[in-house]
Formats: sequence, structure tokens, C-alpha cells
Amino acid sequence: MFVSDCISVNEKGHLTLGGCDTTELAAQFGTPLYAFDEEQIRQNARDYKKSIDDNYGGNGLVLYASKAFCCKEMCRICNEEGLGLDVVSGGELWTALSAGFPAGKIYFHGNNKTPAEITEALEAGVGRIIVDNLTELELLNKIAGEKGVTANILMRIKPGIDAHTHNFIRTGQIDSKFGFALETGEAMHAVRKAVSYKNINLAGLHCHIGSQIFELNPFELAAKVMLRFYADIKKETGFELDELDLGGGFGIKYLESDKPVAYPEYMKSVAATVKSCCAELGVKVPFILIEPGRSIVGSTGLTLYTVGSVKTIPGVRTYVSVDGGMGDNPRYILYQADYEVVCANKANEKRDLTATIAGKCCESGDLIQENTPVQQVEAGDILAVLSTGAYNYSMASNYNRIPRPAAVMVRDGNARLIIRRESYKDLTENDI
Ligand code: LLP
Repeated sequence: MFVSDCISVNEKGHLTLGGCDTTELAAQFGTPLYAFDEEQIRQNARDYKKSIDDNYGGNGLVLYASKAFCCKEMCRICNEEGLGLDVVSGGELWTALSAGFPAGKIYFHGNNKTPAEITEALEAGVGRIIVDNLTELELLNKIAGEKGVTANILMRIKPGIDAHTHNFIRTGQIDSKFGFALETGEAMHAVRKAVSYKNINLAGLHCHIGSQIFELNPFELAAKVMLRFYADIKKETGFELDELDLGGGFGIKYLESDKPVAYPEYMKSVAATVKSCCAELGVKVPFILIEPGRSIVGSTGLTLYTVGSVKTIPGVRTYVSVDGGMGDNPRYILYQADYEVVCANKANEKRDLTATIAGKCCESGDLIQENTPVQQVEAGDILAVLSTGAYNYSMASNYNRIPRPAAVMVRDGNARLIIRRESYKDLTENDI
């Protein structure tokens, strides 16, 4: 009935998540509110973990890409479920460490890590630093040398795969700011440098071809390209690399028409490619890492808003204004992202109104969805925007000095606050 399996409707005709009536969540915690289904997050984590066990005999690790939704509670849940963590900034690293996440299972990414971030990562003792470019490689070797430590690294490679997704979130092709290019010889040059550096231990390579990808083929192709490069490295340098990080990017369902590949199916077919490639090329099957973000948390979350005005412009369109907008969900204005919208207190009624859901920011583009089907809503109704668990809170801003919403985790009919709502005082906290 809805795009997300976590969602249903109770006897009152109200939308529920994790056994909680979402209208009661709105009343208890206020709106806008991000709500997450904890059981589903844990289940997704377990499914990924199981697929590493099933397909690679446990010789691998699932890293949750924390950029999708990063907060202390999310780090705790990932740790409890035995996942590692992909962090991409000093701030994400700080969050993970403050939640007691074991540093050895943290992988530090980023295309322009600052000297301070590199130092923080080395001091924390993160498991791996994913090196993006030669300047960073040299800097890392230097800082590690000064500290008398060895930096364990993966190198980010552009496999030259063009995944069919939004331009802003494609990363595998040669024209990308991320990583070393294979075609130009840059990647092999960097490998030679890395193995020659005293304070660097090159454990393996990383690739990530993009996000919200529905096809299997680009992932299989990327694995093939990477393993061919492993074989080339072995031939040219004698080094056999131990680890291969295949990145994230698995698509989720935002609309009924979206048809993502089931994760176990993805894992199975990529594993078959990895194994046959390794056999063919005479290299050992490396320790495999994957970095799902969106597919762990995206469908498990929704955002609740209170409807303010409903404005019908005859012959033009109907605007339904809510008490949030591009501040808590910038994905429509950025990517024209699709979402399913449901009136939480009229969830059983027909969605026979076509409306544009507008935010409260001083900007015409502040829309959450245009011309979308929704129930006949009126002021005071609670609107739920589904599948907002990934890249919504994490990309939220304080535009117009609107405080960021609270977030709750729901499970077995209970809800607990995991991120407090920002106050006006929080907004001026850093003002001098
Ligand atoms: N690994 C690396 C190196 C990444 O850059 C990303 C996402 C991931 C893993 C996780 O990808 P996922 O499984 O979540 O697709 N803000 C955009 C998405 C940007 C993705 C950035 N990198 C959005 O809202 O759609």
C-alpha cells in the first residue's frame, strides 16, 4: 500500500510506524519531526551482514555510510549490529567516537581531508584512511611519520563506470572530483608511490560509482574493473592487495514505480562476479567491504509536518504549506527528488487531491513535492513524507533561522527522542 514496508494504518485510520500512531508522535514531540523504525534499521543491517556471511564466508565487513544519517544513536545501533562505519569528515568521526564506536572499525573518506582531520583520524586510530589524491598521500605519510605511526590505507579509484543516476551523485566516471583515474595511469603511479612510502600500508582499493542506483550491471562491471587492476598491480609490483571496498549506492523505493534490486540479490551476483574474476585473473578473493547508507536507513524514516494554509489557485495548482521545508528536506530543490506523501490522520482516505507541498522558507523553490496525490487536507492535518530517513536530517540547514527538527526512534510501539529539537537559543549559540 505504501512505498515503505515499515508503514501501516491502524484502526483509527492513522498512519503507523514501528507500532506507533504517527499523529500521536506529532502531538508528543511536535512537528516537523523525523521518525525512524529501529527494528527495520537493525533488520537491514543484519541482512547486509548475512549476505557477507553467505557470499564471502564472512570474509568482509559492512560499513554504514554515516553521511546518510549521522547521530550518536545511529552509531550505537550500527555498533551493536556489528557494522563498521564510513565517515567523511572530522565531524562524523567526532560523532562516532563520542558514541563509543570502536575506532578500528571506522573508515575515513573524503576528497579533501584537512591536515587537522588527518591528524584526528591518526590520533583516534581509525581502521583505514581512504586516500583520494597524491597530495593527500604525501601529507598522510608526513603526518604519520611525525607521529611515528603507520597509516593503513585504501586508495580511491575511479573505475570509469557511468552509473545511471542523478548527475550530482554520480562518481565513478573519469570526470569526477573523487579518486585516482585508471585510464591515465594516475592510479598505478599512486600505487607505486604508496607502497614506497615508509609510513603507509596500502591494504587495498576502494570505489564508489554513485548513489540511488537500480541496476546490477554497473556494480558487477566496477568489481571486474577493480579486480583487473588488482591483477595488474600484482604483475607490475609483485604486491597482492588484501582488501576491496566496493562502496555503496544501492537504490531504494521512493515511489511505487521504483524497482530496486533486492540487496541479497545484488550481493549474490556481485560476489559471483568477484569470485569468477579472481579465479580467472589468478588473484586471491580479497576481504570485501561495502558501504550502504541510503538502503540501511532511507525507507525506515519519515517526516511529519503540520499543515498550515491550503491555497488553491484556480486553473493553476493547489499549494499545501507545511511547517518545515527545504531546511529539513533539501532533496527536492536539489535533485527534484520524488517522495510519497500521505495525510497521517486520513491515511485510509483516497488521495484524490493533486497538490504541491510547500515549505515555509522565503523562497519559491522551497517545495517538498510538486503535483503529488494526497488526501483532501486542511489546516491542522498531519502530513507524512515517506522514505526520508537518508540524506534529510544529514543535509538539513537553518535557512531562515528555522531550528532543525527533532528525531525519534520508534520500536514496538514506543518512541524515544534521539535528537533534540533545536531551540532559538541554539541558533544564536555561536553568534558573537
Ligand atoms: N560510500 C561513499 C564513498 C559515498 O560517497 C557514498 C555516498 C556512500 C558510500 C553511500 O551511498 P548510498 O548507499 O547512501 O547511496 N545527498 C545525496 C546522496 C549523496 C551520496 C554521497 N555518497 C542524496 O540525497 O541523494
